[in-house]
Amino acid sequence: MKNYAELWIGYGERQTGRDCINLRKFYLSGAGESDKIVKNAVRELKTGLKAMLDIDPGIVFGSCAETAPVNNGRDIQDREEYTVSLCDDGMAIDAKSGAGILYGVFDVLRSVSCEKDIKEAYASGKTVRPSNPLRMLNHWDNMDGSIERGYSGESFFYVNDEIVIDERTVDYARMIASVGINAVVINNVNVKQAASYMITDRYFDKLSELGEIFAGYGIRLFLSLNYASTIEIGGLDSADPLDEKVIAWWKTKMAEVFERIPTLGGFLVKADSEGRPGPFTYGRTQADGANMLADIAKEYNAIIIWRCFVYNCKQDWRDRKTDRARAGYDNFMPMDGDYHDNVILQIKNGPMDFQIREPISPLLGGLKKTNQMLEVQIAQEYTGHQIDVCYLIPEFKEILGFKTYCSDDKDTVADIISGDTFESRYSGIAAVTNTGNDFNWTGNYLAGANLFGFGRLAFDTDLSSEEIAEEFVRMTISQDEAVVRTIVDILLPSREIYERYTSPLGIGWMVTPATHYGCSVDGYEYDRWGTYHRADHLGIGVDRTDKGTGYALLYNEPNASVYNDPDKCPDELVLFFHHLPYTHKLHSGKTVIQHIYDTHFEGYEEAQQLAEKWKSLKGKVSDEIFENVSERFERQLSNAREWCDQVNSYFFRKSGIPDEKGRQIY
Ligand code: GCU
Repeated sequence: MKNYAELWIGYGERQTGRDCINLRKFYLSGAGESDKIVKNAVRELKTGLKAMLDIDPGIVFGSCAETAPVNNGRDIQDREEYTVSLCDDGMAIDAKSGAGILYGVFDVLRSVSCEKDIKEAYASGKTVRPSNPLRMLNHWDNMDGSIERGYSGESFFYVNDEIVIDERTVDYARMIASVGINAVVINNVNVKQAASYMITDRYFDKLSELGEIFAGYGIRLFLSLNYASTIEIGGLDSADPLDEKVIAWWKTKMAEVFERIPTLGGFLVKADSEGRPGPFTYGRTQADGANMLADIAKEYNAIIIWRCFVYNCKQDWRDRKTDRARAGYDNFMPMDGDYHDNVILQIKNGPMDFQIREPISPLLGGLKKTNQMLEVQIAQEYTGHQIDVCYLIPEFKEILGFKTYCSDDKDTVADIISGDTFESRYSGIAAVTNTGNDFNWTGNYLAGANLFGFGRLAFDTDLSSEEIAEEFVRMTISQDEAVVRTIVDILLPSREIYERYTSPLGIGWMVTPATHYGCSVDGYEYDRWGTYHRADHLGIGVDRTDKGTGYALLYNEPNASVYNDPDKCPDELVLFFHHLPYTHKLHSGKTVIQHIYDTHFEGYEEAQQLAEKWKSLKGKVSDEIFENVSERFERQLSNAREWCDQVNSYFFRKSGIPDEKGRQIY
């Protein structure tokens, strides 16, 4: 027994498919049998089919594509595409690389695992081309083993400032490759202490070993970089990107790093953000900083992923002009076109910070001459700490489907980050990940659906939230139709339910400061972080219109006019853009205050219903899973009740307006 769950690569026994002739022989073409990834693919196929169906398939190797040099760019999608089709005595997986074969194998294993009819599933051949070139996980793991915003134990990469490589590391690679992840950043974006030494001899051997393991599954290793390395580990007195000494230091450093870790794909950088060092200190721009590193990294075919989470975190709450929501745009838009071609800007989905509901960052659709990558968060920092169930795939679908109007066609966020809109050289999607060394990896077993689902969606943006949820349940919990239905019905509405009992109408925040779990309506109201709801006895919301901070106008038309006008702005975002009286009528016909009361009572009730549904599964899912989720639901219910009562009482006391339905408010 392993001391962790094998989730969707556990390959328990399956009933359907045992007599399917097609699963007896596989014709693999695209890379030869000596290819490292192909070897892993074949091992996976054999292990999986043996365990699930007691089949030992024959393997026939066909044509072999030229192995192209490792690259992070758009041609990745060509090389990772695969086709699975049926032949008389077996099936064929055709690809152009080992990675393509590996993804094809995982496609077949997934079908078997979900007990699909193989003949039907592949009847007309199935070709899948990854929607995004880079499909990345960002770990916020610290080298002391702690995880920033981690809710499922400690890091499985580090103990006491040492890198750990064991069976779990390999299974992790298998697990994420199986859902289509092809890049991983293994250390926190806040690079401090020991992590600053990752690019020194102290860690090269382990990193090189780790990089090789990942490479065997088509995954590129990335590191978060301390922008001020020249000072912190290099002994220089500057990190000025235009300083010759600084540039020379990085040249030597990168030569060493890429020689010792040949599989390294590049670096992720959080600069000038929340106290981290950056080029602003030297009066330089973000582009100056990113380009300096990128120019040096280019020689090694590597990329610099530069985060756009740059804002003033020492704001004065009395100041109504400075708007944190504007910061990303104001800091990065003016240099659109200046970033060199191996720089990617990594942009959080919203302009604030992973709230349960935010508008899309106006950088997405604003930037037209810059490589872009979307950053989402599956670590449930603001969405319930993996205590509350909150299936985030529906939110990600909304984000990807958002029309930015940045061009006549292909203008959604999905189009931009796939590289299609601007034919960008590098692009993709990253998630701040939700894993830790808990037995089940993600704390709440159901939070595994976000890890699984993020990968699946990043690989194939057309999949629906429901299909993904169903696959997750079938692959990891049960094939029983009623059980599958019940769990899918718990997952699908969970994000909107969480939204209902927490912060209304796009206002966000109202969370306990620092931890970000639980309700504290004024927790951030008089703080320095730029996160205000501005509620008084008459109304609530932030005026981000042309009469306020002007943020609404940062969008392309018609989005700008829609957001700028309270009568056109969608209800779910209206308090993000407008300060409105409690008596303002929403499109729904309700007043703002009645909406607050109704959604909070409903959200709490719906959370109770989810918990009831879960209870009905006793004896139908494994005891371990049942107990894990039940215990989380207990905590979710007390959290939901707190939110409901605190928010309702707060706004009743502020506004003095009673609930139309006369329910108990304190
Ligand atoms: C949030 C989060 C931090 C994190 C930061 C980031 O502010 O609370 O823990 O470091 O985002 O994305 O860099």
